[in-house]
Amino acid sequence: MKVLVIGRGGREHSIVKKLASSTQVETLFAAPGNAGMGEQAVRVQIQETDQEQLVAFAKENGVDLTIIGPENPLLDGLADCFIEAGLKVFGPTKAAALIEGSKHFAKQLMQKYDIPTADYQAFTDAEKAKVYIREQGAPIVVKADGLAAGKGVVVAETVEIACEAVEDMLLEGQFGEASREIVVEEFLQGAEFSLMAFVNGKNVYPMLTAQDHKRAFDGDEGPNTGGMGAFAPATHLSWEDYDYAVESILEKTASGLVAEGRSFTGILYAGLIQTDAGPKVIEFNARFGDPETQVVLPLLTNDLVQVLTDVLEGKNPQLKWFEKACAGVVVASAGYPGSYEKGVRLPEWPEEDTFAIHAGTEAVDDGYVTSGGRVLLVGTMATTLDKALNAVYSSLTAFDEHEGFFFRKDIGKSFQTK
Ligand code: AMP
Ligand code: GLY
Repeated sequence: MKVLVIGRGGREHSIVKKLASSTQVETLFAAPGNAGMGEQAVRVQIQETDQEQLVAFAKENGVDLTIIGPENPLLDGLADCFIEAGLKVFGPTKAAALIEGSKHFAKQLMQKYDIPTADYQAFTDAEKAKVYIREQGAPIVVKADGLAAGKGVVVAETVEIACEAVEDMLLEGQFGEASREIVVEEFLQGAEFSLMAFVNGKNVYPMLTAQDHKRAFDGDEGPNTGGMGAFAPATHLSWEDYDYAVESILEKTASGLVAEGRSFTGILYAGLIQTDAGPKVIEFNARFGDPETQVVLPLLTNDLVQVLTDVLEGKNPQLKWFEKACAGVVVASAGYPGSYEKGVRLPEWPEEDTFAIHAGTEAVDDGYVTSGGRVLLVGTMATTLDKALNAVYSSLTAFDEHEGFFFRKDIGKSFQTK
């Protein structure tokens, strides 16, 4: 088969790496891909947003299956373009991807189909939002309705901070069209985890859970980032809660989307929080999570192309997982998620038993330089999470004293089992 992966991040490198191990794949294309994919895929210089060129490339090159990685092209209707052209694509239509594109839509869906989540109200009027916030008290959470590159959520400790966020979003237009409407929701407490599933209509095939680390610095301090590390499976969850999350959250959501005429085909990602009353939804995404994918896909024993083909044909892919743990730590450019320097040369690091997933690198003659905030993720699988983390951290010592980079030293620490 000829397979095309659309995107350029760590998530897409991880997908490419997994596809490259399939005996069914003859040629792998990545548009536009990243420097780390060089050995596994042919990079095609077409942007993720260029719908016409992507469809034309797939047709001209006899691509049998296309996988769309990031949310923006999905919300722009890229999967619809492939479907209209009669091409096989793995990724939701624009109508189904709205579950990620509009927090208000996602909340309405959860309310209608009785899916556990925080209580909320949606607003376009700042004064009404502030009245509601004063009634509810703090802590309280204010969210821009649309995509805001992970920056559209304010967890407010005080009513004043929440009201400021309302003004920034609704009156100042902080996130443009994405904050024309906001959702104000109840603050939930508990450990967060991610649960992704391969979905086609009502059929849901769940993956293992994973744990992201969104804050920049150790001890969950500092600003939110695109993810500084992850491990799978999430250790704090019982199988009972896992089953509950699959049935009461993922399956109900997939069925709800079908009932709304927005049948979902692709990866449904639930960001969940383990409250005293069980798992509840924090957010939905319409794609593989980043960096969760980098630690979940290595644990999948199945051939990914076969899984995607089965799911698209309505067959159960019979997912099987290694009984191991997988951990990954992100190396970031110093200054990220604020401003940072590009073009910094990466030191050589011993790969040994680890793997490297690239996100923000460029190849130069005899190595790599940085081209983004999150540079790469170094990960590995082992029989226990402790062993995986030890292997990853010992391979990262090369980056330890380098002023151009930083990484969190405590990925998985609060969850390690002795
Ligand atoms: P989101 O972009 O929706 O994933 O939100 C970013 C982060 O804000 C989440 O990972 C949570 O840590 C936090 N958050 C979002 N909604 C809530 C909530 N209702 N209660 C507590 N924390 C939340
Ligand atoms: N790891 C969170 C996300 O992919 O949105």
